[in-house]
Amino acid sequence: MTEPIRPSGAMESRGAYNRHARLQAGGAASALPALESVVAALPLFGEQALVIADYGASQGKNSLAPMRLAIAGLRARVGPTRPILVYHEDLPANDFNALFAVLDHDPDRYNLDDPNVFPCAIGRSFYGGVLPPDYVDLGWCSYAAMWLSRVPMLIPGHIHPYRAVGDVRATFERQGAKDWEAFLAFRSRELRAGGRLVVVLPAVSDQGVTGFETTFDHANNSLTALAREGVISAEERRRMVVGNWARSRGDLMAPFAKDGRFRALTVERCEFSALPDTAWAEYQQTGDSQSLAGKHAAFYRATFAPTLALALDEDAGRRLAFSARLEQEMRRRIADAPAPINSHVVTIVLAKAAP
Ligand SMILES: C[S@@+](CC[C@H](N)C(=O)[O-])C[C@H]1O[C@@H](n2cnc3c(N)ncnc32)[C@H](O)[C@@H]1O
Repeated sequence: MTEPIRPSGAMESRGAYNRHARLQAGGAASALPALESVVAALPLFGEQALVIADYGASQGKNSLAPMRLAIAGLRARVGPTRPILVYHEDLPANDFNALFAVLDHDPDRYNLDDPNVFPCAIGRSFYGGVLPPDYVDLGWCSYAAMWLSRVPMLIPGHIHPYRAVGDVRATFERQGAKDWEAFLAFRSRELRAGGRLVVVLPAVSDQGVTGFETTFDHANNSLTALAREGVISAEERRRMVVGNWARSRGDLMAPFAKDGRFRALTVERCEFSALPDTAWAEYQQTGDSQSLAGKHAAFYRATFAPTLALALDEDAGRRLAFSARLEQEMRRRIADAPAPINSHVVTIVLAKAAP
């Protein structure tokens, strides 16, 4: 089998991702101090418009806090009139309507009081060039660059590559390494000399775990149950795979191992931390396992169900019913055995050298 399935179905549409991506919002929040320091020290040459690129923006809600912080930091340095362009980039399948709605009327939108901030959107993969060379002052990419450019193979017995073993695991590892280099190479071309790129990612801890293992097993077992019930066919279940690859410190630093530089980029920071599970903290206060299960299952559905649904034979109507049944099945399993998602997050700051 060569190319079994498309790698990513974007996030769940109609703003569902915006409503259920609290975990990702927490990861991005952990990187805000790093972003603030980067903006304070960013070289700002000339008088031209300043350019911020938000790679893998999805439906925009989680971009508001980092963009607001970056714009406030730039405004403090350049005054109120210099134009600032903010490009939100994502796959063509992304729900850009939800993104535009956020930019138009979310109470926390970063462009509320600043007529010289101009939001724009780009529907193209970040595994290619999405902006002109030497153009971007500040890049931000949160919880997106772990999505692979392609799925190299199916995974016998599971849908998530982190549970793969042997040669299958090695194949995903190679794809992850290739894609990280490609992502960095394209971003390096787009950054201006002296520009900075802040990348936030779910990480593999130094102990070799992502913290999502239990949740991903619940998803996998739920799909087996749905196949048993006939909600999905055995063939559809076999084709399901999530082309998503979290990386370790060694994986992330590999392109820089030779001489500390990769395509004019150097690493200024690479910080790992544990990400608190806010749903679990609430559960510890209330003891409400149904509420915990509802939040974890909704997070999983909004993030991964559209990708799994790409393996279904039929159209959108069935996709919605599939996602709802998957969520229901996961909710039941999580409520029966409540557990925290003890995930890890890494923030990497990259600088493009002067030519
Ligand atoms: C988990 S969401 C993260 C959204 C947001 N940045 C956040 O922090 O919540 C991942 C996003 O990456 C996007 N994505 C995946 N592969 C991509 C690619 N090759 N090019 C651009 N965006 C991609 C998905 O469509 C999705 O919107």
